[in-house]
Amino acid sequence: MRMTYLVAGAGMLILVGGVAASVTTARADDAQAVVTKRQDLMKTNGKSLQAILKVVKGQAAYGPDTVKAAETVLSNSKEIPSLFPKDSITPKSRAKPEIWTHWDVFKQKDSNLQIQAAKLVEVAKAGDVKAIGAQLQVVGKACGACHETFRQPEKKQ
Ligand code: HEC
Repeated sequence: MRMTYLVAGAGMLILVGGVAASVTTARADDAQAVVTKRQDLMKTNGKSLQAILKVVKGQAAYGPDTVKAAETVLSNSKEIPSLFPKDSITPKSRAKPEIWTHWDVFKQKDSNLQIQAAKLVEVAKAGDVKAIGAQLQVVGKACGACHETFRQPEKKQ
């Protein structure tokens, strides 16, 4: 009786061990998927700000694309929290674990970006390039404020 119990117990352990291993792998894949998604979104943010900067510097003409770029940053800013599920860090990620121990601060920095990006959309629509330049700086600072606290320095290859 005792033997049977032990054997059954060992079998259970192996089974549970196997399930645990496959769950871990699935989670790692999911985590990398979300990391890639948020890095792509962040890259789009960077490109959008670059496009607006060109207009501010007189290297590109002001137009509907200027407004579109600002709107992209605004809509992206609203998606940021959902792209940081708890503890989603992979070797390719530069996210700091502090994001989840200080989630309120992280969210607050994102809210600030939302506010400043909404203002950027307004000034972009109005079309005063000087005002666009001033608000672009404020938005850049809102991006930087989060990176300073919650992003690892670039990994040396
Ligand atoms: C609330 C925090 C937060 C805000 C606001 C934020 N970022 Fe990020 N950003 C991050 C974090 C965290 C990472 C690292 C993500 C990772 O590697 O998993 C990152 C990564 C990036 C990257 C590198 C992407 C890559 O290829 O690895 C760029 C570029 C970037 N952000 C641009 C921006 C720009 C531009 C803005 C403002 C319009 C912005 N970010 C606003 C937190 C933020």
